[in-house]
Amino acid sequence: MQAPRQLPPMWTPGIVQGVPPDGVLDLADGYLDPELLPTGMMASAYAEALDEYGPAALTYGANAGVAPLRGALAERAKAAGGYPCGPENVLITAGTSQALHLLATRLGAPGDVVLCEWASYHLAKRIFSDCGLRTVPIPEDAEGPDPAALSDLLLDLRADGDRAAFAYLIPTFHNPTGRVIGGRRRADLLEVAQDHGLPIVEDDAYAELCLDPIDLPAPLAAMAGYDGVVRLCSFAKTLGPGLRLGWMLADPALVTRLAGEGLLSSGGGVNHLTSLAVTPLIQHGAYDRRLLWLRDQLKARRDALVSGLRAGGADAFAVPHGGFFLWLHGLNAQAIEPTGVRAMDGALFGPLAEPGLRLSFSFSSPTDLEEAGHRLASAYRA
Ligand SMILES: Cc1ncc(COP(=O)(O)O)c(C=O)c1O
Repeated sequence: MQAPRQLPPMWTPGIVQGVPPDGVLDLADGYLDPELLPTGMMASAYAEALDEYGPAALTYGANAGVAPLRGALAERAKAAGGYPCGPENVLITAGTSQALHLLATRLGAPGDVVLCEWASYHLAKRIFSDCGLRTVPIPEDAEGPDPAALSDLLLDLRADGDRAAFAYLIPTFHNPTGRVIGGRRRADLLEVAQDHGLPIVEDDAYAELCLDPIDLPAPLAAMAGYDGVVRLCSFAKTLGPGLRLGWMLADPALVTRLAGEGLLSSGGGVNHLTSLAVTPLIQHGAYDRRLLWLRDQLKARRDALVSGLRAGGADAFAVPHGGFFLWLHGLNAQAIEPTGVRAMDGALFGPLAEPGLRLSFSFSSPTDLEEAGHRLASAYRA
């Protein structure tokens, strides 16, 4: 059996969050391959930010985030969807996880319910439960959460005296399944949410990682004109999670309210120096050039995994058009233990009707992914 590739020397416990056990082909976590992390680009970007801004780069930053970054991100959102968006819609965050925590405490109160997809990002659910919120899955059909069922669920909750704080959805390149919710379904879900006064938190961590020439539906937040829908974006999956940098696109009143609260008034805008380092990458095209390169790298990894699975005779999956994850039906984590491949058991993400595995193709090399596909296929046949 071929040995998996070596990790960089400093990729060790106590320094990084996840270190796969030796000799394992790791398809478990949604991490970027160390070889895809832009250390050289960020070294120059930090040096340039310190040079240009001097001491202003090391003081407390503007509460909502630095104006040039907010402006550049608003322009980007407008250019992508054609929907109006200005800097007043943008709040810089320390990544999506921090934004989820912020929203869970500001939009929700202990005991409230968060409605989510049937399978949903397990750590978002952890954040919600840490804040005393309960997650309840929305019944689904083949196209995603069912709008009529959402409406019924909201009526049932109200009848039981429960309050739904918001719906948490990952409509684009879903974690864990890779699914994209179509435009019609998005509009229908939005209509139900608006009818019931239910805010939506749209987690779009993977939206910039489309790997195929497909037309993506507009984000829910843009469709709603940022009224009642908060869209969360992050540089974690495109530049690197260690930057702890993301952004929230929301109604200006919510941005102003959050920016004026104690957390940001006390500490200033989050990750101020990193914000200043990243801004010119967006303004001058380096970020877009990196995205083109990164999509090619991820596509090669996805294709290697798909080719290994198919060559081995496993075909119970839909090829994801983007993001980090492929959902393989019919296997669980226990069944693949003897293969030396690590993947996430589907049961982690929600109450599933049948076994499934989340396979991440973002972390391992194409060669390792193809090999992992072969080994998983042999478990699948068995
Ligand atoms: C759907 C989703 N949201 C949020 C995150 C975490 O984002 P961040 O690193 O920006 O906190 C992840 C990471 O796996 C994710 O898959």
